[in-house]
Amino acid sequence: MTDAAARFDAIHARSLGDPEGFWGEAATDLHWTRPYTRVLDAGRPPFYRWFPGGGLNICFNALDRHVAAGRGEQVALIHDSPVTGRVDRYTYRQLTDRVARLAGAIAALGVGKGDRVVIYLPMVAEAAMAMLACARLGAVHSVVFGGFAANELATRIDDAKPKLILSASCGIEGAKRIPYKPLLDAAIERAATKPAHCLILQRPELPCDLVAGRDLDWAATAAAADPVPCADTAATDPLYILYTSGTTGIPKGVVRDHGGYAVALHWSMGNIYGLEPGETMFTASDVGWVVGHSYIVYAPLLKGCTSVLYEGKPVGTPNAGALWRVVRDHGVHVLFTAPTAFRAIRREDPEGGFIKSAPLGVFRALFLAGERCDPPTLEWAEAQLRLPVIDHWWQTETGWPIAANCLGIGQLPVKPGSPTKGVPGWDVRVLDEAGQPVKPGEIGNLAVKLPLPPGSLTTLWQADERYVSSYLAAFPGYYQSGDAGYIDEDGYVFVMTRTDDIINVAAHRLSTGAMEEVVAAHPDVAECAVIGVADALKGQMPLGFVVLKAGVTRPDAEIEREIAVLVRDRIGPIAGFKRTLVVDRLPKTRSGKILRQAMRGLADGKAVPIPPTIDDPAALDEIGAALKRAGF
Ligand code: COA
Ligand code: AMP
Repeated sequence: MTDAAARFDAIHARSLGDPEGFWGEAATDLHWTRPYTRVLDAGRPPFYRWFPGGGLNICFNALDRHVAAGRGEQVALIHDSPVTGRVDRYTYRQLTDRVARLAGAIAALGVGKGDRVVIYLPMVAEAAMAMLACARLGAVHSVVFGGFAANELATRIDDAKPKLILSASCGIEGAKRIPYKPLLDAAIERAATKPAHCLILQRPELPCDLVAGRDLDWAATAAAADPVPCADTAATDPLYILYTSGTTGIPKGVVRDHGGYAVALHWSMGNIYGLEPGETMFTASDVGWVVGHSYIVYAPLLKGCTSVLYEGKPVGTPNAGALWRVVRDHGVHVLFTAPTAFRAIRREDPEGGFIKSAPLGVFRALFLAGERCDPPTLEWAEAQLRLPVIDHWWQTETGWPIAANCLGIGQLPVKPGSPTKGVPGWDVRVLDEAGQPVKPGEIGNLAVKLPLPPGSLTTLWQADERYVSSYLAAFPGYYQSGDAGYIDEDGYVFVMTRTDDIINVAAHRLSTGAMEEVVAAHPDVAECAVIGVADALKGQMPLGFVVLKAGVTRPDAEIEREIAVLVRDRIGPIAGFKRTLVVDRLPKTRSGKILRQAMRGLADGKAVPIPPTIDDPAALDEIGAALKRAGF
């Protein structure tokens, strides 16, 4: 066993054997306004609380603490925006001042501790400021990704019931300007909950009209506000709600706290990503996703690093060298993105010309997550970079990596297709359907033994029962990840597929169940199924199957187009829903369940055995024929 492996195993064993000692030690790196009564309160399983009784504000720890410690003149945040041609830098002192003033403006609008604030913003520096300003006040933010449609935003507004919404006049997607304001207005119109105010960032690229009495101009309001200090939040107070796809159209509101999240993220920066204070992290994701919450905003700032917030794409802004340009321009030490971004880069720059054209400076590691990292992508990235390329596995629910090759502890040998081993704090197991452990190498449900480490979800927003039924009921004493996979003889985790109807399109998590609800609403559709099919660039793409109502004679292509527009309007462009096949019937079990897994197998070109429970095997043959006709 190598030194790194022995060190890793010892740290991992300690984290599980003595979680209170382990996380109590990690907590000493942060600033507490009052000590916690104990590290872990396990008195009300399956609800666990980290650092009960303690006082910690994550904004103070991410900003004010560093200014007080002499880091005020270091750049904290770089907004690099090839789509506007701007690069803006904010030192820790400047960012603290901007956030304190914005918090003052928000407080003056009547928002206080525990109130919710929805943030619907593109990748501008103000998005990070908005999150931190809410945290400063103890208000609970809920960031909604800009690629979601008005309907999805309305659903989230109705669940979170915000007093205030922070938004912008537009987003910029490559060459396109996306007007955000009409989407926001439509969402508020549709939602039952009406926010008292909206603070609107006017972008010169596409300004918008403001609704008198409700909307306020961001810049003017923040400039006129007095800065406010951090609220005295409890470590267990909710910091944010982040909605993620569930198995129905109703998204799940993942809740995270101030204290546990801060401790876990701070620990992860050194131990997983191997970053020191003063170094630079570039996470090419979006603040609307968990990766953006954790590794664009909170973690790099908690660690005293510089974070790059990038408003661009891996390709097309202007070319496949975009990420390397940012790495060189800003002295990036660690880059984190999704495998799909690398597949896009590889497609346009197969020889890695943009990587090799000039030295990458202090750059030392690439981290990939958000979807399964296919070995060819990993191997291509390794061959081009000749630096560690690290696949790591995590979820919106977990907030930080469950399994990773912990660079800060010491890199372990890489096995392509595996995100390596369960990270310290995570006791990953593979269970069969009866909840019994399976042998190494056997596929089963990937589960984590409770308690989950700090930083993971504490519950679903105002839905404790749904939290238990979604994650904790199937295997008592374990968190059910919703992923299936195996652990090999060496303890390496392999994440293979989801066990539910969630698909991963360009590393964006989407529910086919939610898409089916939309497709079924088309007036000509009698019955439908949506599955995810393999896609060389985006990992998966959704594909619809519909059975039309008797008597419908309109051309299939027309209906297909309308369904695509419907999904785009209700869920958003990000769903990437483009194709629907009209079929005479759907293959079902004798009890009437649609055989989606068999359909997926056929679409992916696999040999699909006839499921023993099938009602009529000819229905599956018809799906195969329809797929062939459509070119799958
Ligand atoms: N606001 C509005 N619209 C958005 C949006 C946003 N924030 N983000 C994406 N969209 C739109 C796109 O413009 C596109 O619209 P179109 O159908 O009119 O072309 C649609 O949603 C699909 O976008 P996307 O899936 O991003 O596809 P793409 O072809 O534009 O780009 C990739 C492909 C692979 C380059 C891109 O998906 C990518 O960079 N993925 C990485 C994702 C990532 O980092 N995920 C985070 C997990 S770590
Ligand atoms: P999200 O909640 O959007 O972060 O998506 C989480 C899901 O993405 C997981 O449940 C997995 O299905 C998938 N995922 C994320 N990272 C990985 C990875 N490294 N390997 C395999 N699947 C991953």
